[in-house]
Amino acid sequence: MTTTCISLGGMSCQAFCGLESQSKLLVDEGVREMKVLVACEHSGTVRHAFSLLGHDVISCDLLPTDRPGKHYQGDVFDIINNGFDLMIAHPPCTYLTNAGVGWLHKDAKRWLDLFDGAEFFRKLLHADIPKKCIENPVMHKYAKRLIGDVAQSQVIQPWMFGHTEQKATCLWLEGLPKLKETKNVRDEMMLLPKSQRQRLHYLPPSADRWKLRSQTYQGIAEAMANQWG
Ligand SMILES: C[S@@+](CC[C@H](N)C(=O)[O-])C[C@H]1O[C@@H](n2cnc3c(N)ncnc32)[C@H](O)[C@@H]1O
Repeated sequence: MTTTCISLGGMSCQAFCGLESQSKLLVDEGVREMKVLVACEHSGTVRHAFSLLGHDVISCDLLPTDRPGKHYQGDVFDIINNGFDLMIAHPPCTYLTNAGVGWLHKDAKRWLDLFDGAEFFRKLLHADIPKKCIENPVMHKYAKRLIGDVAQSQVIQPWMFGHTEQKATCLWLEGLPKLKETKNVRDEMMLLPKSQRQRLHYLPPSADRWKLRSQTYQGIAEAMANQWG
């Protein structure tokens, strides 16, 4: 089956799109369908959560998608101006995160990567899309300065959304309300050993360690779709 993908400027998107069931709940409930871009997502987690509500959603990443669905494999700035109502973006954090700030003082080359990473983040922050959420871990002070000292809107944790894990995640929001917690399991989580609470930190070395560490939590993806979709 060949479908036409408006997000790709009318090109056939057979190469990019798999078949993803869309229950069209919105139509039944009389809610307006939105055109949604999930930028820098290869896992398809947030895209799938929005597609289940019947939105016209596409993910975009330099990598292919891990989950069948509408996906543009390429640079997000190829499609960012295609008239989206909402963008949720997960830009790379390697050079921006506070957890990696020590490396800047050990390897001078990382400063150049930091400048590129901060510029990429800054461009997403100022994209001409009315509703935006840009997600990243806690940033170090150099990155904050380079993105223009725009403060995050809120800090969330997986344990606020049903996952017994800790990972502080900052959201920069525009045109969207703060994300409300859906299932607070902090007390249950605190009974677990640190190696389980901070599971991602303790993952053994492997080729896909970075992928596992960067995948959006299901509970957070569902909260985004249910509260912003
Ligand atoms: C921190 S990971 C986010 C993963 C995401 N949370 C998920 O569940 O798939 C950042 C992603 O940005 C992608 N990326 C980097 N540069 C990009 C670009 N110019 N356009 C689109 N995606 C890009 C990377 O390939 C990587 O998959």
